[in-house]
Amino acid sequence: MQYQKSQLLHARASQVIPGGVNSATRRLARPVAWEWAEGATIRDADGNAYLDNHAAFGPIVLGHNHPGVNRAVAEALDGVDMVGVGITEHEIRLAEKVVEHVPSAEMALTFSSGSEATYMAVRLARGVTGRSKLLKFQGTFHGWHDYLLLNVITPAEKLGRKDPGCAGQLAEAVDHTIVVPFNDLEAVEQSIRDNPDQIAAIFLEAIPHNIGCVLPRQDFVEGLRRLCDAHGIVLVFDEVITGFRHGLGGYQEKLGVTPDVTTMAKAIANGYPCAVIAGRRDLMMQFTTAPGGKVFVGGTYNGHPVGSAAALATIAALEDGTVHERLFRLGDRVRDGLQEIADRLGHRMTVAGYGSVFTPYFMDGPVERYDDLLRNDGEKDVAFRSAMVERGIFMLPMALKRNHVSAAHTENDIDRTLDAAETVLKGMPR
Ligand SMILES: Cc1ncc(COP(=O)(O)O)c(C=O)c1O
Repeated sequence: MQYQKSQLLHARASQVIPGGVNSATRRLARPVAWEWAEGATIRDADGNAYLDNHAAFGPIVLGHNHPGVNRAVAEALDGVDMVGVGITEHEIRLAEKVVEHVPSAEMALTFSSGSEATYMAVRLARGVTGRSKLLKFQGTFHGWHDYLLLNVITPAEKLGRKDPGCAGQLAEAVDHTIVVPFNDLEAVEQSIRDNPDQIAAIFLEAIPHNIGCVLPRQDFVEGLRRLCDAHGIVLVFDEVITGFRHGLGGYQEKLGVTPDVTTMAKAIANGYPCAVIAGRRDLMMQFTTAPGGKVFVGGTYNGHPVGSAAALATIAALEDGTVHERLFRLGDRVRDGLQEIADRLGHRMTVAGYGSVFTPYFMDGPVERYDDLLRNDGEKDVAFRSAMVERGIFMLPMALKRNHVSAAHTENDIDRTLDAAETVLKGMPR
């Protein structure tokens, strides 16, 4: 493979964009610039084509440049671009669809990014409870704002302590967020006892996909619901990844547990910027968009016609269930296939995942919480992914990161992934 054009573009980008990329997780050991994408294929500036198992961190659920979604966006632009006051029918229809499909959604507000939605969930919870503390779990990510950016991929030596995401975060914000091991209801109960009437919200990544795939135990999620009810705490499910990708009703529908507030983004609009906060009517009516609301919400681009039209077209494509049926079938095939190959070749691997998501961890199971993932062999993990990329199968070359199948993937694409994995694993030390 040739990489010169990517390297030149990266060098040019680095002159005017810090590090040459617009988001920290886009920086790769070998820089890459992209020029084309369609269906399940992405092509870089040097003309190298890859099967895309990364899906841009999750938005691409139907496949790249989906004609129906692109058409809906183009049609929307024939109407109103932006006026900035009032409402458009697109925005109404989108909120109606979210309310129709997502169990916890009685009302919805639309933004452009997941971080805006989770930030608004923080402010809403604090505004309605009058309390200041938040509780999150080790290994979850909820966006870039100060309040929840801590303890995502924490090194072993910092486990059990606060692990803020970056310089510049307000110490008070970090202090006000309690971090608890995932799937550990007793630790949540203890935190509530230690902070009586102080916790405004519990934030749960419905499945912690920012560390691959760690499934929540049913009794854990039911316990969270019970504790939140008993102690007046707002239960927030962050379904920015799981929403619409794992089902029209998100992962909450599978769990049969209804949070008070849900945040969604990514797969809702197949790659266009759109995010939603939805929840109980009495809570949502506390936003200042409603008369008498006390929790300010604003945003020039909220409900933008491009994102709203893309979301409506994406949801329409998901509604008859055939896309999810296909995603789950292909997901099962790739997970089972990888596990079989690794077992046969004597590699210590646990392939985790759900639906269209798969993550091969280089370790033995089980995986129930973040601490378990400290057993992952990070070097092997990255070496495997990098070698897959060399063979035209794009997987983010970073440890613990999830892969996604899209509806544009074919059975042949799964075979290609498995064939490449077999070749790579054969050449790797056990
Ligand atoms: C679970 C979760 N919540 C929130 C966010 C933030 O979304 P965005 O990057 O659109 O701001 C992300 C992003 O990866 C996420 O994975």
